[in-house]
Amino acid sequence: MSSEPGKTKFQIDLRAHLREQNISDNLVHLICEIAEASKYVINAVRTGDLGVAGTSNLYGEEQLALDVLSDRIMRKRLIHSGVVCNIASEEMEEIYQVTSNPQGMFSVAYDPLDGSSLVDVNLAVGTIVGIYQGCDLLQPGRKMVGAMYILYGPRVSLVYSIGKGVYEFTMNQLMEFTLTREDVQMKPSGDIYAPGGLRKKYTEENDRFIRHLEDKGSKLRYSGGFVPDINQVLMKGKGIFMYPALTDSPNGKLRLLFELNPMAYLIEQAGGAATNGKIPILDIVPDGLDQRAPVYIGSREDVEKAGEFLDGHA
Ligand code: AHG
Ligand code: MN
Ligand code: MN
Ligand code: MN
Repeated sequence: MSSEPGKTKFQIDLRAHLREQNISDNLVHLICEIAEASKYVINAVRTGDLGVAGTSNLYGEEQLALDVLSDRIMRKRLIHSGVVCNIASEEMEEIYQVTSNPQGMFSVAYDPLDGSSLVDVNLAVGTIVGIYQGCDLLQPGRKMVGAMYILYGPRVSLVYSIGKGVYEFTMNQLMEFTLTREDVQMKPSGDIYAPGGLRKKYTEENDRFIRHLEDKGSKLRYSGGFVPDINQVLMKGKGIFMYPALTDSPNGKLRLLFELNPMAYLIEQAGGAATNGKIPILDIVPDGLDQRAPVYIGSREDVEKAGEFLDGHA
């Protein structure tokens, strides 16, 4: 099928684009439902209560009212989509089962509002989503059939992949997502670095790697929001984001199912790499919903260099 008559490919909307991708109607529907849900999440971010919820999440972290509200918005939309089997969220204690029949169904792992503590200082935040075929969520990320994030910045963008390259859509004045970039590709090496975690808790190897990046002239670009920080690396097509093991948290901070796998999928699709310093993030076999991992993600050679420093070979 070709684009709608009279429209250039850069006016094409998300649904029309997805229909050209030779994927199941259910997957088209699911991605469009997530895109619709994001419009309510933005509304919550823009106008909602900035206070705490008084509850804690899967990780025992204090939830903000916006974390809880964004989670409800996403969950409700997924439940009613009719194409979802299991749902897992950073903000839920356990898997929510919608149906036990995997036929034609997808399971979804998401971070409803990444960077929620940045909303009160008006920095960019986002929603991160990983999509699996069938009902099993505890699989290596490489089994995903799609991944996406929605970035709530000065503009709202949706970046997705279903294993056929990375596409960016941007919300227009009618609140439709229209194609703005296709086949996003990363350069092998870059000059941007985004390092998470307290430097004084870095191991000697990680500290040396940072000094290497500084020596090579990389610019520090870290906002504290994973979605905008990854979006910068991906859209500029170069650089590295890292959140290493810390002396008091050997698995770092970021969550495998809800944050790392979807981003690793997108970055690999763009020709970049994502590892925990040893193996690709997408090859880690999760042993629980709440698994964390150290991460080095971005331009391929920069990620490989991190591995060399960790091995003591650099
Ligand atoms: P969340 O808001 O979903 O809990 O995640 C916050 C994450 C992520 O957005 C960011 O990369 C990281 O925490 C920042 O951590 P530091 O403040 O330790 O740098
Ligand atoms: Mn997050
Ligand atoms: Mn979150
Ligand atoms: Mn949180």
